[in-house]
Amino acid sequence: MLSTPWSSSLNLRTPIINAPMGGVAGGRLASAISGAGGLGMIGIGTAGSVELIERESAIPRQARQPFGIGLLGWAVDQEPLLLGAALDAQPILISLGFANVSPWVHRVHDADILLATQVYDAQGARDAQTAGVDIIIARGSEGGGHGLNNVATLPLLQAVLEEVEIPVLAAGGIGSARGLAAVLAAGAAGAWIGTAFLLCPEALTPAAAHSRIIRANETDTVYTRSVDAAMGFAWPTQFGERVLRNRFTERWSGDEERLVDDDRARAAFSRARDEGDFDLAEIAAGQGVGLLSNARSAEEIIHGFTNGAAELLGRWATTSPTRPENDAGGPATE
Ligand SMILES: Cc1cc2nc3c(=O)[nH]c(=O)nc-3n(C[C@H](O)[C@H](O)[C@H](O)COP(=O)(O)O)c2cc1C
Repeated sequence: MLSTPWSSSLNLRTPIINAPMGGVAGGRLASAISGAGGLGMIGIGTAGSVELIERESAIPRQARQPFGIGLLGWAVDQEPLLLGAALDAQPILISLGFANVSPWVHRVHDADILLATQVYDAQGARDAQTAGVDIIIARGSEGGGHGLNNVATLPLLQAVLEEVEIPVLAAGGIGSARGLAAVLAAGAAGAWIGTAFLLCPEALTPAAAHSRIIRANETDTVYTRSVDAAMGFAWPTQFGERVLRNRFTERWSGDEERLVDDDRARAAFSRARDEGDFDLAEIAAGQGVGLLSNARSAEEIIHGFTNGAAELLGRWATTSPTRPENDAGGPATE
């Protein structure tokens, strides 16, 4: 068991939350993560709908596991029913990102649900705290999926921890027990982890993507807007996403203006997505992908991260007379 004051307050047995990965983190993964002692999040991504929220959240609910739901703020702006459905599903946590969250804080709190949001710099963390958000996710540029590409996880986490009093989860590139130990030792209340769960049998990652994920090393990702440009997704243009480099990103990353007008290229990309042809279609993943070498269950990963981090932190505690102080408190192991 590994705990921080924040994870104990939620009755978690380990301070690990899976990132709400659209198209990857459904109810089955959320259930497995919570069952293993972390907190499972359901990702409602660009293909999100009220039906998807209802269907996926029924899985952890039936298993009597706590869970969270991650929504895209800009999608809620376009379709407010998504937030209503997420509130009705009674998660313990909702994450809203990629938009100004202020208008939603009261509604989430009125339903007795905690609100989290991703930030990319210290100013974003201050703004989120002022808006009344309960949990900040300091998400570094090495993370998979969408975000900003400006600050890496470690400098970001340090800056954010200096800036706010509310619990801060570290995200981006946490791919082993070492990464978990590092962010907890720095003062994070927990870790928000996406890429490391991509190969779990409980995840929705297409089978055809597995061998590419296993082959990829830490230098094989690229931050790009080419996927959103090809698909015409309504992502705010300041956000790109980190994906595995492939033939499509090599051709179009940085050339998005031309891509938008190239109907043939866009149609070919869309077809490749439908057919699972990952020479062209994207696989979102962060730089921690290099640490993934085989498929393991969510429970195995959580136990490996937790036990390994407890051991590393125990070693560190015996040689260090003091613990770093922050409002989330240092990690405790037993
Ligand atoms: C396949 C994939 C899909 C993602 N989809 C979403 C999403 O729908 N909503 C969201 O808030 N974040 C999403 N993310 C980003 C994560 O929330 C998080 O920032 C990231 O996974 C953390 O870095 P890591 O992947 O290195 O662990 C996604 C990440 C991945 C890898």
